[in-house]
Amino acid sequence: MKRVLVIGATGLIGSRFVELAKNIFEIIPVDEKVLDITNQQAVEEYFSTTQLDAVVNFAAFTNVDAAEKERNDTKGLCYKLNVTGVENLAYASKKYNKFLVQISTDFVFSGTTDNPGPYDELSPVPYELLPSMGWYGWTKKEAEVKIENARAKSAIVRIVYPFSFGKYDLKLDYAKNFLKLYDDGKLFPIFTDQTITLLYIEDLINPLSKILEEELQGIFHIVSSDIATPFDFVEYLLSKARNVEGVVKKGSMEEFLKTPGRTPRPRLGGLKTEITQQKLEMKFRTWREMVDEFASKL
Ligand SMILES: NC(=O)c1ccc[n+]([C@@H]2O[C@H](COP(=O)([O-])OP(=O)(O)OC[C@H]3O[C@@H](n4cnc5c(N)ncnc54)[C@H](OP(=O)(O)O)[C@@H]3O)[C@@H](O)[C@H]2O)c1
Repeated sequence: MKRVLVIGATGLIGSRFVELAKNIFEIIPVDEKVLDITNQQAVEEYFSTTQLDAVVNFAAFTNVDAAEKERNDTKGLCYKLNVTGVENLAYASKKYNKFLVQISTDFVFSGTTDNPGPYDELSPVPYELLPSMGWYGWTKKEAEVKIENARAKSAIVRIVYPFSFGKYDLKLDYAKNFLKLYDDGKLFPIFTDQTITLLYIEDLINPLSKILEEELQGIFHIVSSDIATPFDFVEYLLSKARNVEGVVKKGSMEEFLKTPGRTPRPRLGGLKTEITQQKLEMKFRTWREMVDEFASKL
């Protein structure tokens, strides 16, 4: 059984991976207290003294609005964790010959009308921080570049808008957040002019395990096989999980982003998956199929 170091094992997605992949790999779960990836020496020491075959990094500064407050600050925590931390992992993986999987996002793209998604695995990422891109997305893009530069055996796995039926107390996932807003009577108008793809976290396990098992290198997109708008998603989710129809009001992301102080996010985002499905010889589900299963488990 492969020994896999899981960094960010206490996070929303990492914790679910640890739970669901424990029979596939011998998992070594770590959080910041065990291994602070921003500390280059600590990473080196850990890699040199721990017996492991592969590494998957779920650790990141994921609060997009908080990240924006650090825009252009390469000494800030967001940059340190999302870029320097990943660079430390990439160089240690190269030095100690470990296979590294970095979890990334479609926020590495601008999602604007002049370069709209959904993006495929070969789509070029921006060279410069565009005003339409958030700092979080930019740091995740920089992490991808650092990994490529380090030339370790590696894969970049991009995911988008995760949700799961698993229990997690520290923050709400994309589906549970909307269900809570509805239950609390606080559901706001939902965007009809944003394109997204989605990931039922349970659907990440088999493709990611195959990448780790076979040490498949390159860029992979693991999300629903089709795109949605948040409005379509929430309408369908509420019909399946709460048995209500026609209660969602329509909103515009284009208008929302014009309000001063908003964090830039990809409006026309989402990821294509055909290349990944072909490479992995797997068929990904549609987002409605993912919601069907999620709702049936509630
Ligand atoms: N959530 C989303 O909507 C979403 C969407 C697309 C892509 N992603 C990507 O998916 C990955 C996982 O996201 P998530 O939402 O599951 O993350 P999360 O819940 O915010 O968890 C972050 C993890 O990072 C760890 N961490 C923080 N600082 C660290 C440090 N210095 N050294 C080592 N570990 C540290 C945390 O450990 P402690 O608890 O000890 O601090 C925690 O386990 C990230 O790469 C993210 O960019 C997320």
